[in-house]
Amino acid sequence: MGASEASEVFARIPFFFEHIRLRTRYMDDAVRRALTAGVRDIILVGAGFDCRSLRMPEIAAAGARVVEVDHQAQLDEKRRRLTAAGVSIPEYVVPAPADLAVEGELERALAGAGVAEGSRVLWVCEGLLGYLGRDEVRALAEATSRGCGPGSFLVANHSETSWSSETLVGLFEAATWRASRGPSFEALHRTHIGAEVPPGSEAFALLEATR
Ligand SMILES: C[S@@+](CC[C@H](N)C(=O)[O-])C[C@H]1O[C@@H](n2cnc3c(N)ncnc32)[C@H](O)[C@@H]1O
Repeated sequence: MGASEASEVFARIPFFFEHIRLRTRYMDDAVRRALTAGVRDIILVGAGFDCRSLRMPEIAAAGARVVEVDHQAQLDEKRRRLTAAGVSIPEYVVPAPADLAVEGELERALAGAGVAEGSRVLWVCEGLLGYLGRDEVRALAEATSRGCGPGSFLVANHSETSWSSETLVGLFEAATWRASRGPSFEALHRTHIGAEVPPGSEAFALLEATR
């Protein structure tokens, strides 16, 4: 999809543009908070074409690394496109191919990427949960919880139309995360865009969890 097609899609879906802006800002701030708290492993689960690692100089400045989890084909395609655009991928960005639907693959991928068991991690699950079924989200909650130590964080966004906050909080709490619903669209809009909050954005939801 080119830039103009993407703009057309954004224009057709009410509030989509603001949703993406605000969730991106929220996740960027979560990365900054985690870096300030001393976290040095940022794991993008369902990384897709996320270029946070290239966009946020704070990550390299802190000596942190970004582990990108996604299907092998998606990681390959991203690398191909960046290379074709003349962008070289820095060494602190580590691919971790995995199919989250296959039991044990996330753990294997993280071990392959050199993520030490018990290390402090920020897990970023942006635009991911809508693609996963209940068993996969449960497995994700358990694998992320097992795969990191105390002082770790997890952030995710979702739509209340596919996952209720209550269900997700329950699944993550059952996996020993301390989970809660994150700030509302309205609160983020007031903080970052302005007081005139458009109606109809109740489905926008964020999940935040700590260990
Ligand atoms: C909508 S994209 C979001 C990408 C990126 N995080 C962002 O916010 O721009 C969802 C990503 O999740 C990945 N994904 C979905 N199901 C997955 C699975 N079972 N295993 C690994 N990755 C998966 C897709 O390949 C895709 O790259």
